[in-house]
Amino acid sequence: MLNKEMERALNDQINAELYSAYLYLAMAAYSESINLNGFANWMRIQAQEELTHAMKFYDFVYERGGRVVLSVVDAPPETWDSPLAAFEGAYEHECKVSAMINDLVDLSIKKKDHATNNFLQWFVSEQVEEEASTDAVVQKLKLIGDQGNGIFMLDRELGQRVFHAPASEGE
Ligand code: FEO
Repeated sequence: MLNKEMERALNDQINAELYSAYLYLAMAAYSESINLNGFANWMRIQAQEELTHAMKFYDFVYERGGRVVLSVVDAPPETWDSPLAAFEGAYEHECKVSAMINDLVDLSIKKKDHATNNFLQWFVSEQVEEEASTDAVVQKLKLIGDQGNGIFMLDRELGQRVFHAPASEGE
């Protein structure tokens, strides 16, 4: 059975993951508006991943006998100044999410909730990847600067990303 404070915090994380999906979808729409369809593909897939993160929390709360309560998802920004600004925003956002996951881990330790602590370890590892993958694109965009050819090549590369549903627990 989930402790009430832990349940509330996990519900807040469902909201944060849904916001992440919304943010990446807004970044996809921005990328499409400037004809960078490969960037848009990457962002769309990231939005799908974020939905799977939200559902992992949803399923866990339910499985532990808790109650899922959904709240208002904030609107994401409408636009960015450049693809670099969008990816810098993505990286900063992932750092914020990592801090939220760390806070959840701290709370699970405080509450001696080993099941939740174990569940959260998947997200601890996932956030290492989330920060690294967004930062990798930031660094490439910094190298490219405003060379159209480089942007075009990167757009092609990001267009090749495909969605992989994360493995379920125990797989
Ligand atoms: Fe759900 Fe991008 O972290």
